[in-house]
Amino acid sequence: MKNIVILISGSGSNMAAIVQAAQRERWAEHDGAKVVAVISNKADARGLQFASAEGIVTEVLDHKAYPSREAFDAALAQVIDRYDSPGQPVLVVLAGFMRILTPGFVNRYTGRLVNIHPSLLPAFAGLHTHQRAIDAGCQVAGATVHLVTAELDHGPILAQAVVPILPGDTADSLAARVLTQEHLMYPRAIAQLLRQT
Ligand code: GAR
Repeated sequence: MKNIVILISGSGSNMAAIVQAAQRERWAEHDGAKVVAVISNKADARGLQFASAEGIVTEVLDHKAYPSREAFDAALAQVIDRYDSPGQPVLVVLAGFMRILTPGFVNRYTGRLVNIHPSLLPAFAGLHTHQRAIDAGCQVAGATVHLVTAELDHGPILAQAVVPILPGDTADSLAARVLTQEHLMYPRAIAQLLRQT
């Protein structure tokens, strides 16, 4: 079985979309893949409740409890690696996980660490992507699923979704339009990745 571990920091709606797609599309049966754990760096992340209700193991690792980024990432890797199964390294999915990861962590999971970013990369890496797209006068915005490399919000692109920016859009209205597409694109991109590996 290929184990999937999802990392979140907040509402976890992308994580929920992935869990629901895995059930609906029977990833366990067809792809030998299963979401086995959801890890948050915040104890109050709303997504944890959804995951528990689905019978998925949840773990909280508060980054503030660690003296350095390296120490936090080492602890995180230790938890994730529990889910490696023989010959089947775990797939690590970042879904609104709002922590910058160290090169050591990223290199450990090369090729099996994926992220979703709410912009059409390489445009608007970093934060406040929707406001920046509106301020730049862009006519479209979107989201990108990519493999994670040591450089923030870079790495090979696996999928992109495009939405229009409409007159009167605010960062919130645009974020909601993009998020709807994220929920469709992210599970699809992961399913595709599972079939390639
Ligand atoms: C999503 O829009 C995701 O693309 C973004 O945070 C939101 C999380 O929502 N991720 C980043 O900004 C990563 N830098 P969710 O918790 O409801 O999935």
